[in-house]
Amino acid sequence: MNYKITLLPGDGIGPEVVGEATKVLDVIANKYDHTFNFQERLMGGCSIDKYGTSLTDEALADSKDSDAVLLGAVGGPKWDDPNAKDRPERGLLALRKGLGVFANLRPVKVHPSLIDASPLKPEKLKDVDIIVVRELTGGLYFGQPKMREMVNGNERAVDTLEYFDYEIKRIIELAFKLADGRKKKVTSVDKANILESSRMWRQIASNIGTQNPDIQLEHTLVDTASMRLITSPASFDVIVTENMFGDILTDEASVLAGSMGMLPSASLSESTVGLYEPIHGSAPDIAGQGIANPIGTILSCALMLRYSLKLELEAQVIEKAVDAVVSSGAKTADLGGKLTTRQMADEIIKRIEEN
Ligand code: IPM
Ligand code: MG
Repeated sequence: MNYKITLLPGDGIGPEVVGEATKVLDVIANKYDHTFNFQERLMGGCSIDKYGTSLTDEALADSKDSDAVLLGAVGGPKWDDPNAKDRPERGLLALRKGLGVFANLRPVKVHPSLIDASPLKPEKLKDVDIIVVRELTGGLYFGQPKMREMVNGNERAVDTLEYFDYEIKRIIELAFKLADGRKKKVTSVDKANILESSRMWRQIASNIGTQNPDIQLEHTLVDTASMRLITSPASFDVIVTENMFGDILTDEASVLAGSMGMLPSASLSESTVGLYEPIHGSAPDIAGQGIANPIGTILSCALMLRYSLKLELEAQVIEKAVDAVVSSGAKTADLGGKLTTRQMADEIIKRIEEN
């Protein structure tokens, strides 16, 4: 089969990790007789530098017109001026909204050979296998009004936390569907003791829970959830939550896996087009050195094969290869090792070819 994949390497270490991940996809294409047609576009700071905007209409149109989009990372100190008209992150939000990718899946597993890379006690990390389902196109990130104004000589800033019932319903239904193929437990995270949007969220979650009696549903306040992620991470299966809570909790959860560099993400829409990206950022401090961990991006490619291209076998081949390489003790700098980005990818490719 032929597939069109848009690459948005972005800024910082983005091009380095995407470059290695596409090599892995090429190996899969060869082995299983697929054709992946890559089209590369600028997005983020590099797009601001070249076109004066963080996401051009063409880059968005080309992304929409492909089977899947693979993104590296965006941002960096160069574009951090708080008064700038445009920022790399704005391009990312416009892309998510434009593609309609409302569901951000962030799986967090602790690999046995990386238990020592996490600051948590090993016994806490046993059996940790979580998937966080973060709502991605609503909430505080997008709610209107969003503005600053002068009121009686004082400056006032406003962000709005807004949700429609259908936005909550579709994300929670997706969480239930995922839980059905796993340990059948959904933890819905909200702040229903304070926020109206959370009270609606909780009500909708309860209704969906009633319709799915074989799935265990629990409601947890976000502050409690953040504590439980450290004290008893193995008690979670599927976590579903609104955009900003999910942003914060997934950075916290990534610590369990030993390094942010390990973790992939998939952002899904109502159609099959998906956006795939590692959860780490552009890491300007190590950009250009060729030492970033490519595993988060390579595992994001596996998610792309699974969810957008429907190539489950190929997805598993990548995941097994990563697993084997990590088990063998291979480590990049973030994990306390010495492998370069390329060497780590080459190890993974070797396993895929041997498979
Ligand atoms: C993430 C990032 C983004 C977010 C930034 C870069 C806009 O932190 O994907 O988690 O806040 O969603
Ligand atoms: Mg984040």
